[in-house]
Amino acid sequence: MKTPWEYRYAQRTQRMGSSAIRELLKYTELPDLISFAGGLPAPDVFPVDELNAACDRVLREQGTKALQYSATEGYLPLREMISRHSARYGIKITPENVLITSGSQQALDLLGKILIDPGDRILVESPTYLAAIQAWKAYGAEFITVPMDENGMNTDQLEEALRVGPKFIYVLPNFQNPTGETLSYVRRGKLIELADQYGVPIVEDDPYGQLRYEGEHLPSIVVLDSQSRDDGHPCYRGNVIYLSTFSKTLAPGLRLGWVVAPPEVIGKLVQAKQGADLHTATFNQMVAYEVSRGGFLDRHVQLIRKVYGERRDLMLAAMDRYFPPEVEWTHPKGGLFLWGTLPDYMDAADVLKTCIKRKVAFVPGEPFHPTGGGKNTMRINFSNATPENIHAGIQRMGEAIGERLAKQVA
Ligand SMILES: Cc1ncc(COP(=O)(O)O)c(C=O)c1O
Repeated sequence: MKTPWEYRYAQRTQRMGSSAIRELLKYTELPDLISFAGGLPAPDVFPVDELNAACDRVLREQGTKALQYSATEGYLPLREMISRHSARYGIKITPENVLITSGSQQALDLLGKILIDPGDRILVESPTYLAAIQAWKAYGAEFITVPMDENGMNTDQLEEALRVGPKFIYVLPNFQNPTGETLSYVRRGKLIELADQYGVPIVEDDPYGQLRYEGEHLPSIVVLDSQSRDDGHPCYRGNVIYLSTFSKTLAPGLRLGWVVAPPEVIGKLVQAKQGADLHTATFNQMVAYEVSRGGFLDRHVQLIRKVYGERRDLMLAAMDRYFPPEVEWTHPKGGLFLWGTLPDYMDAADVLKTCIKRKVAFVPGEPFHPTGGGKNTMRINFSNATPENIHAGIQRMGEAIGERLAKQVA
């Protein structure tokens, strides 16, 4: 029987579905199951001792401030630190350009809240980040897709999509979630040029940019955009909104992300955030600032790069050894994910069922395609499992895929 509340849901509530990832994550709690499903960092590299010491210092030296309400924009020393750090990557901004959010997921939601009217079309890569689709669907967004390949969003097909009139473009240029692919330098230029030509702004989501395991760092879209303007302003006022997070470099449980945007947009986001949570946890912001001072975060990122890079290599080697030749997969230069493609006639959801029987899990790729497709694809995380489990889990997956293939052929 329905509760009275269910008759009172708003229209947008009917557009909300529970995330396929969240549904699947319940399987990761089965004993002995090896999960490549979540986008979880490795718990063994969480800086527990350093965070413990930072909490201690914050409470001892500024305890009453840390436990008090604070400004919606975020803790100023942290915003200053983000501005300085961004400058190293060529993003010339001031704290006026920065809003601290409760994870970059909140930034996605707030952008939906201030930008999306029901029926607005958002131009996204296909596949793209599932929780952005989820957040924006609730505001009534429709999606226009541009396919991904090994060089990121295929900009040859961008112009046609731009002609449909999207409100903004959402792009994940570095080690994309879910494919692990990176937008090439040439395509970054093309994206900015076309976006400018059609007068469509860009939202750049970059949680993984610092987690590169090989090759040269590529400039962000926001950097290329600011260079192409160079209006002499210390404050960025361009066409790109940039998002990043401490979730992958420090710890996701802190729920700390940030938005870089023109100050006018930051002002609107601040108003939207006030209605959501007033401000991001003061204590967490102060602890993140405290732990990051004196170069710790830089050293820690080096460690993460080493550990995750090794895990990626291990996974790729295990796939070479155990996956049937009918399967293809990406070779990401960074980030947390690989993307597998089964033969067209196979369904990754069926493969998952066989995998779960063999105590291994991944995420089927279909929900990452906002306009459909991708039934034969799968997202596989390589950061979270231990080296032993990566080897054992990929062996189990290889066997499960082999079993499904044999059934399909029979
Ligand atoms: C592309 C992308 N954007 C945003 C997020 C949200 O990150 P958080 O809210 O932890 O900062 C994630 C998390 O995995 C992600 O992959």
